[in-house]
Amino acid sequence: MPTAQESILVLDFGSQVTQLIARRVREAKVYCEIHPYTTSLEKIKALAPKGIILSGGPNSVYEKGAPHVDKGLFELGIPILGICYGMQLTAHLLGGKVRKAAGREFGHAGLEVLQAQPLFAGLKKGLSVWMSHGDHVQGLPKGFTRAAQSANCPNAAMADPKRRIYGIQFHPEVSHTPHGRAMLANFVLRVCGCKATWTMDNFLEESIRKVRAQVGSRKVLLGLSGGVDSSVVAVLLHKAIGKQLTCCFVDNGLLRKDERAKVEKVFRSHYKMNLKVADASAFFLKRLKGIADPEKKRKAIGKAFIEVFDRESKKLGRFDFLAQGTLYPDVIESVSVKGPSAVIKSHHNVGGLPAKMRFELVEPLRELFKDEVRLLGAALGMPEEMIHRQPFPGPGLGIRVLGEVTRERCDLLREADAIVVDEVRKAGLYRKLWQSFAVLIPVRSVGVMGDDRTYEYTCGVRAVTSSDGMTADWADLPRPVLVAISNRIINEVRGFNRVVLDISSKPPATIEWE
Ligand code: XMP
Repeated sequence: MPTAQESILVLDFGSQVTQLIARRVREAKVYCEIHPYTTSLEKIKALAPKGIILSGGPNSVYEKGAPHVDKGLFELGIPILGICYGMQLTAHLLGGKVRKAAGREFGHAGLEVLQAQPLFAGLKKGLSVWMSHGDHVQGLPKGFTRAAQSANCPNAAMADPKRRIYGIQFHPEVSHTPHGRAMLANFVLRVCGCKATWTMDNFLEESIRKVRAQVGSRKVLLGLSGGVDSSVVAVLLHKAIGKQLTCCFVDNGLLRKDERAKVEKVFRSHYKMNLKVADASAFFLKRLKGIADPEKKRKAIGKAFIEVFDRESKKLGRFDFLAQGTLYPDVIESVSVKGPSAVIKSHHNVGGLPAKMRFELVEPLRELFKDEVRLLGAALGMPEEMIHRQPFPGPGLGIRVLGEVTRERCDLLREADAIVVDEVRKAGLYRKLWQSFAVLIPVRSVGVMGDDRTYEYTCGVRAVTSSDGMTADWADLPRPVLVAISNRIINEVRGFNRVVLDISSKPPATIEWE
């Protein structure tokens, strides 16, 4: 944790939404980090946070093996806010009584505020909050008073203003608690006395200073994919160290229409960066020949990428550093934040670079969440088109051409995909959708065109809404958009005579078809 700046520490007890606490605090312009509940008191003291938030969690405090903290935490003189399990743990450790509630409470609840200061300052007396608990605090610990109640939860909030320790049974971090953001802001600004100085402009300035200090006069290599993260890293590093940065873009033949040209235009022509484009499409397609199994394709693409990147970087000369767009969720040491899905999706990292590398790393986005990376891009003056791109998988069209990947199939899909994206953009839906794209289904069917009979492939159209890609709903595209997509693909793309719409959500379907 950077010592020069004020920060809030979130101790994670395993809630699915711990990450949101940090995001809400950062929205109040205060830097915030998540650490596991096992973090030692010594380490916490060394981190010197201005306040500590104890997250929710799935356990009961009185269960054997439930996650606890050292009681000394409450004697550090640092303000503490316990949320849900965090509140129950606070009560339990300080001598209060935590019991199973008469009924599990899950969903919206009406909160009656009894003590407005400081957590509920500026808010009404009656609030809607989100509850999700089986236990509750039945007896308050010494020194605490009741600060709010709900129909099923008499101690919905508790306060010990003298020691600056607070607890709330509901979840202020989720969007279902409309004023939760204000409550968290009250805690960090009013209780902890933080100054709200953590802005993207400040972050940018600080990052540039840090990169310069780390790199000195040495050289940095960046694998540029054209996606949001690596593009922001490129522009940031270029600003910090100029020509000491070289970007390497691998054209694997599996890119979307005009993608390579766009990258060249922005990074080489506009920013005047050192950009090396490796045309490796023939190499990748050769490696993919005869492979139809999705996981084998992913592996082949990942392996080919590493070989090409390695070969190209050697040709480019000597580098001391490798820059990467690692984000905060990748480095939080907490299973609950990454969740079991992190394991399921480990294959998604294929297409990146291996851990064993001969370079030191430069990772300027390590402290940021994805939406903050976009804000950083905006602070860097990057065009909106670059910072609000839909995600594109590392293996690219390789997993959207079902079955064997050939140049002819990729070319066909590129055209259809460009039409889908174009029509979605024209309808003003691009940013509302998590992803919208075409897939090539290698099933031929009969059609007629004029007097001729056709026998061609099927084009699948996939559009989903999602907040993080973990779950997704199929998007209900307006009929005129579907009509335009269908007409244009069939009329403009020789090779498809049928367009089908994917109306499956995730789970059980995945977003990509392979
Ligand atoms: P699925 O298909 O698992 O996709 O629902 C969830 C998100 O991950 C992306 N995705 C990948 N990204 N390499 C990547 O870099 C991959 O192999 C890969 N597979 C899926 C997908 O585009 C979606 O955003």
